[in-house]
Amino acid sequence: MSKVYVFDHPLIQHKLTYIRDKNTGTKEFRELVDEVATLMAFEITRDMPVEEIEIETPVTTAKTKVLSGKKLAIVPILRAGIGMVDGVLKLIPAAKVGHIGLYRDPETLKPVEYYAKLPADVEEREFIVVDPMLATGGSAVEAINSLKTRGAKNIKFMCLIAAPEGVKAIQDEHPDVDIYIAALDEKLNDHGYIVPGLGDAGDRLFGTK
Ligand code: PRP
Ligand code: URA
Repeated sequence: MSKVYVFDHPLIQHKLTYIRDKNTGTKEFRELVDEVATLMAFEITRDMPVEEIEIETPVTTAKTKVLSGKKLAIVPILRAGIGMVDGVLKLIPAAKVGHIGLYRDPETLKPVEYYAKLPADVEEREFIVVDPMLATGGSAVEAINSLKTRGAKNIKFMCLIAAPEGVKAIQDEHPDVDIYIAALDEKLNDHGYIVPGLGDAGDRLFGTK
């Protein structure tokens, strides 16, 4: 079963409070999402493999560690996932970026795929799917389906706020995919919005309605 990691670092929680606040405007919202994505990337890469190499310091020869070159790709779920990409790239600048476009049909709340573009070597990469919100889980499950259909084998899912329903949906459909979140909220309302949540992540990021 997928493991769930809640990143309750004080800095993440502090910034998330202002992301949730309805009085936070688009510019600040965008900056905060970017900052939290960077902090989450720091945590999510904790288990990245390293290897020992030998270098010369000004004083002596030393055996020391570097990342062992694992190939990573970040995949935002369009559109709101885009808000997390640059924040992750600040720490992992060599990562490739794929895109999966999904929107929730407002009547059925079911995801509809309208775009998919991934790096060529899908099977060898580790993927981090990013989206600020995991609500019913429909979008995340569909994005992961889309990656797996194209050959992806190693996938993590990272979001700011999750509802229990969304976590369960990933655990049921993709038990091999671990979930990394900044906060696990209480529930969904009748419109499929996370409560207390932050509202519509895409609209708040891009200033649309
Ligand atoms: C939002 C959000 C997720 C999805 C979560 O996107 O960014 O992708 O809803 O809901 P779910 O877990 O119930 O599928 P939305 O469909 O509003 O599209 P947008 O990013 O274009 O605003
Ligand atoms: N999508 C959002 O942007 N917000 C929610 O609360 C649920 C889905």
